[in-house]
Formats: sequence, C-alpha cells, structure tokens
Amino acid sequence: MSNKKRILSGVQPTGDLHLGNWLGAIRNWVDLQKENETFFCVVDLHAITANYEPKELSKNTLSTAALYLACGINPADSTIFIQSHIPAHSELCWILNCITPINWLERMIQFKEKSIQQGNNVSIGLFNYPILMAADILLYQADLVPVGEDQKQHLELARDIAQQRINAKFSKDKSILKVPKPMIMKDGSKIMSLIDGTKKMSKSDPNENSRINLLDSPEIITKKIKRAKSDSQIGIEFNNPERPESKNLLMIYSILSGVETGELENQLSETGWGSFKKLITELLIEALEPLQEKYKVLIDDPYQINKILLDGKEKAESVANSTLSKVKKELGFFK
Ligand code: AMP
Ligand code: TRP
Repeated sequence: MSNKKRILSGVQPTGDLHLGNWLGAIRNWVDLQKENETFFCVVDLHAITANYEPKELSKNTLSTAALYLACGINPADSTIFIQSHIPAHSELCWILNCITPINWLERMIQFKEKSIQQGNNVSIGLFNYPILMAADILLYQADLVPVGEDQKQHLELARDIAQQRINAKFSKDKSILKVPKPMIMKDGSKIMSLIDGTKKMSKSDPNENSRINLLDSPEIITKKIKRAKSDSQIGIEFNNPERPESKNLLMIYSILSGVETGELENQLSETGWGSFKKLITELLIEALEPLQEKYKVLIDDPYQINKILLDGKEKAESVANSTLSKVKKELGFFK
C-alpha cells in the first residue's frame, strides 16, 4: 500500500506574492510534491472577501499560477488549479456554514485584524472566509496542509468542523471527512515586515517597503533593503528579543544560504548593518533571479498555463465531487 500523504494548500491572488509566501509556504510545497499526492490551488474566491478590482483579479490569478510553476511546483507531480473553477468548493462551504456555530468564527484572529483594516466595509464573506478554507481542505480529504504560522487557527477550525460537526454527528464510523493536520515549518513560517520586525510581512501592508515581492527587480530589492529598519548595534544576532529586525533578516539569510543561524551569528558577530545589508541584498537577488527568469517565460505563454490549469481542474474536480457526494448522502440530501 502506498504511504503517500494527501496534501493541499493555496495562496490568494491578491497582489504580488512576497518573500513570506515563498519561505513560509510555497518552498515547502516544492519539497513535498515528490513523495506525496499534492494539490495546490489559487484561492480566488477568498480574494474577493476584501475590496478588489475585477480586472486585477483575473490577471493576479494567472500570475499566481505562473509563480507556483516558477517556484518549482511541477504539474507532472502536483495538481494545480483555480478554486472557483470547481463549484464544489462553494457548495461544501454552504453546507459547512449551516453546521458551524457562529461563535467558533467570532474567535478568529485574522477576521478581527482584517475587519479593523477594512473599517465599515466588512463583508459576510470575510467572516465566512475560514469556512471556505475548511471546505477547500476537507473536499480533498487532505492529511496535511502546509501553511505559515498565521493559518494555524484556521486549520484548527477545519479540524473541529470535520471531527465534531460532521464525523461525530453524521457518521456511524466517524469517517466521512479526513481530519487534516497543519504543517508549519520550523524556519520561515513567520517572516516579519522589513520596516517593523514585530509585524508579519503582509500583502495588505500599505507600505511597499515592508516586503520583498518575488518579482521585485534587483534595483527595488536593493532600495528596500537599504530602507529596512535596523538598530544601532554592531553584530547580527538571532536570539536577542530587543532586536527583532536583526532576527528576521538573519532568518531570511539563513534559509536562503542554507547556513544555520547559530553559525551565521558567529560569522557576523563583528559585522555592521551596512555590510550585512549588502550581503543579504546580493543573496536575495541571486535567489530570486532563477524564479523570475522562469516566470517571464511562463507568463508570455498563457496558453501553456491554461492547459495546466484545465488539466488540474479535471483531476481536482473528480476528487472534490466524490467527497461532496459522500457528504450530501450522509447528511440526508435526496438523490
Ligand atoms: P496569503 O498571502 O494570505 O494568501 O498567504 C498564503 C500563504 O503564505 C499561507 O500559507 C500563509 O500562512 C503564508 N504566509 C503569508 N504571509 C507570511 C509570512 N509573513 N511569513 C510566512 N508565511 C506567510
Ligand atoms: N487562508 C489562506 C491564507 O490566507 C489561503 C487559503 C485558502 C488556504 N484556502 C486554503 C491555505 C486551503 C491552505 C489550504 O493564507
């Protein structure tokens, strides 16, 4: 019997993907695809839970899919698809909406944070966002969901829905839905903002200088690192809680160079910020260059990406529809 695990994850096509998305999530997907059965979707239905431009939505959806490929997701190993191409996501979301207690959602930290950002324009969709995410995961009976630290609470909700609200209530052998586990990397699961080492790097930060986007040119990377917040101390440290910016940049440096943080701390104990910033700028430019080259070739050939996505849709849809039928049968829908 195969001991391959089923894996699913996704990124929203809202604006440009950044270093946090890559180091915290997509990098991990690439490593998982050889040994497992992997599904990666572009979650466009999640992207409309905040204000958006219709023209930008389709452009960003295509560009996010191209970035998955450029980062090394291989369509020969993984199923790559667009969430809205598979109606089962919305349908299971509705069913889960009806069986999930409202107070489970009221606890969601991301909803609280995002509703503050969105002021008086908060949609019901933003509130329901974690249920749609649960539907994404549960439809594929995923064992593992590789995400950044910020998604842990949403994963716990998906587990509770599967276990307590579906399996325990509606099935005799408790096996309608697989209960998924989060997979959060030790390193890189929370990359911080360049201008404030206590805040997460995020697409929704209005200050562009807070993040490195995967498609930033060498000039822009150089400028952003130059402007990145530093402190007045010599030496780059990892474990000093007073120096979050130093810790964050050292973590990024360590992941990209493959050198342990402890060893880097030793090497950089006498190095000032100016020299360190030069080193990390060079490393970032070098790490992103191959990915950017691949992206340029791919985005010039949308026909090829569309073909991959069509193929992905077919494969994903048959899995999703079979789970949805099972859920509907067990929940008593007339056939
Ligand atoms: P999003 O950009 O919100 O669609 O996030 C897509 C994926 O990237 C999720 O798995 C997030 O947990 C992950 N992610 C987003 N921001 C960061 C960050 N600053 N550090 C690490 N992972 C992140
Ligand atoms: N909510 C996730 C984020 O913002 C994106 C997402 C939607 C997702 N559906 C998912 C991630 C399913 C993993 C699995 O990062």
